[in-house]
Amino acid sequence: MTGPSRQRFLDAAFARPVDVPPVWLMRQAGRYLPEYREVRKRFAFLDLCANVDGAVEVSMQPFDRFGMDGVILFSDILIPLPPMGIEVKLDEGGPKLPDPVRTAERVLSLRSFDPSVETRFVMDIHRALKKAVAGRAATIGFCGAPWTLATYAIEGGSSKSFVNTKTMMHREPALFEQLLGKLADVCGHYLAAQIEAGADVVQIFDSWAGELSYEDYERFIRPANERLLAKLPKRGEVPRIFFASGSSHLIESFGRLPVDVVSVDWKLPLSEARRRIPMRALQGNVDPGILLGPVGGVTEAVRAAKLDAGPGGHIVNLGHGILPPTPPESVAAFVAAAREA
Ligand code: CP3
Repeated sequence: MTGPSRQRFLDAAFARPVDVPPVWLMRQAGRYLPEYREVRKRFAFLDLCANVDGAVEVSMQPFDRFGMDGVILFSDILIPLPPMGIEVKLDEGGPKLPDPVRTAERVLSLRSFDPSVETRFVMDIHRALKKAVAGRAATIGFCGAPWTLATYAIEGGSSKSFVNTKTMMHREPALFEQLLGKLADVCGHYLAAQIEAGADVVQIFDSWAGELSYEDYERFIRPANERLLAKLPKRGEVPRIFFASGSSHLIESFGRLPVDVVSVDWKLPLSEARRRIPMRALQGNVDPGILLGPVGGVTEAVRAAKLDAGPGGHIVNLGHGILPPTPPESVAAFVAAAREA
């Protein structure tokens, strides 16, 4: 049977020919795995993100079971916020930021930091993960995008309507741009440090991009993403994946970013994404909900995604993160279907 391959991942990301498309799943290290829940009994989530042995162990769990072509760093997009001066708590109810950023004074007080010092644990995890994976798969580093992080910083947690964020954006656009700029610089340096520590691939999560109109995305957000990407080493060695869910109206804008792969969700057929941004490899786009159903449906969905994407420049993935009640058998079927010739 075909096994995992680091080279396959890099080749597909740069739209070079591959035997079969590479496969991994967003949030593949997480609560759907009993062995993850076992480790979580010993650590609070944020403590696990800071513990080198624990984080490497949970990153490796899905790889050891299913042999994906990519192994993602175990961490969270909110990790760079505390060293900037934004406190973060993460418990059952999701992220909570007790002192949200809503004034000029607060934006001004946010600090930049040296990621190899103040988030050294992340770089240590990358180095240890690289050793554990030992070239058998691509290691994936990541960060949040400025807009998505700004929503957490301004709302103080998850949000449905983004009222406070949009208030700042439309009432104090200069202040909002200043905050985005600070986040872009911090995240750019942070992601560059992950590459320096050995990440083979990087992904930028702009999870809530789809909340914005094309005009607002172009005016405020794309420049911030470009500012982040400008901090990375030059293109061509470490592939850059850009993820945003529910944002098919923005895909032409994503297609102009200096990234190699655009990740799309199940609301946009891969063939249509291909037609609209032919110069980028694609990642996705199976609905994580399908993995809650029978394995036959999972196999069919992966086959359909492969067929729709066409032969090259495709990384098989979900359209968003795996859901906690997913049976591990579904993930096994997902990987097996990706490996079919
Ligand atoms: O396997 C992986 O993909 C690696 C790790 C990873 C996590 N979070 C672990 C995690 C990654 C890549 C993220 C990114 C992340 N974090 C995003 C962007 C991706 C997306 O889903 O759109 C966002 C928006 C966050 C912020 C965040 N972290 C939220 C909203 C939550 C709570 C929701 C939830 O799923 O519980 C978290 C917590 C979190 N991050 C968990 C994990 C495994 C659950 C914590 C636990 O074990 O209890």
